[in-house]
Amino acid sequence: MNVGILYSRIRKDEKLLLTELRERDHDVEKIDVRKLRLGVSTPNERFDGLDLVVDRCLATSRSLYATRFCESYGVPVVNSHETASICADKVQNSLALEEAGVPTPATTVAFTKEAALEAIEAFGYPCVLKPVVGSWGRLMAKIDSRDAAEAILEHKATLGHYEHKVFYVQEFVEKPGRDIRVVATDGEPVAAMVRSSDHWITNAAKGAETDVFELDAELEELVSRASDAVGGGLLGIDLMESDGGYTVHEVNHTVEFKALDSAVDVDVAAAVVDWLERTAEPDSVEVSA
Ligand SMILES: Nc1ncnc2c1ncn2[C@@H]1O[C@H](COP(=O)(O)OP(=O)(O)O)[C@@H](O)[C@H]1O
Ligand SMILES: [Mg+2]
Repeated sequence: MNVGILYSRIRKDEKLLLTELRERDHDVEKIDVRKLRLGVSTPNERFDGLDLVVDRCLATSRSLYATRFCESYGVPVVNSHETASICADKVQNSLALEEAGVPTPATTVAFTKEAALEAIEAFGYPCVLKPVVGSWGRLMAKIDSRDAAEAILEHKATLGHYEHKVFYVQEFVEKPGRDIRVVATDGEPVAAMVRSSDHWITNAAKGAETDVFELDAELEELVSRASDAVGGGLLGIDLMESDGGYTVHEVNHTVEFKALDSAVDVDVAAAVVDWLERTAEPDSVEVSA
């Protein structure tokens, strides 16, 4: 197949993907999103003849616009703009999970610091305040007291970009020092790991220790439902365990898999490319099946 990779920086994840694609003799077009000019009426010719585009943009804004242009140009893109827009925004993400009946931590959204303080007091302490757009555990706040709540709300309201004036308040989930990351393709788990840390934020990007994790049938079902809830695709599903059972706290759309790849025996890039091949040529797979 002729596959385009939309990127701004080739990280280890993209290297793994590119190596796998080239080993299988696919034609790969690396498209640096920083150099693109995307005409509304005149499609950019870099997209001509591509069977599939894989969005690996780092910046959420670029990812959202670039996927939208691909769709407008009639080029199949993973993940879809729809999936990207749900996953890029924690409010949309939570609503989609809730609407699909996927257990997710109790969350309240408020638009002023006064209303946010009321939401925080209603949850009690500790609770969590998250930026609605963000990743790698950045700018997450665990709020232990009313004093802390007032301080952080005032800082966000005064210093924050307008996105930080949307206050996303969540119950604190008493997880066992770890959370679970599953990479899945259209709801089918590729592999999973636990990320453990002494810190309450257990992102691999924050230095959490990773270890392989075997999914049981209940988790597999939850992963599939969480994937459907956001429209499917190549996704990173984050879950927490607690006395109340599993909750899915978010689904990620330009998922990094280097940490997972080194934590598990599965060749994650190979599984992803298998899925890209099936996605680009669904008919040929049906014929051979
Ligand atoms: N409600 C919560 N209760 C306890 N820990 C949480 C909660 N939400 C997030 N965390 C921890 O913080 C990490 C980052 O949160 P997440 O919502 O996944 O944001 P990001 O998009 O930055 O990865 C999670 O992996 C988990 O370890
Ligand atoms: Mg996360």
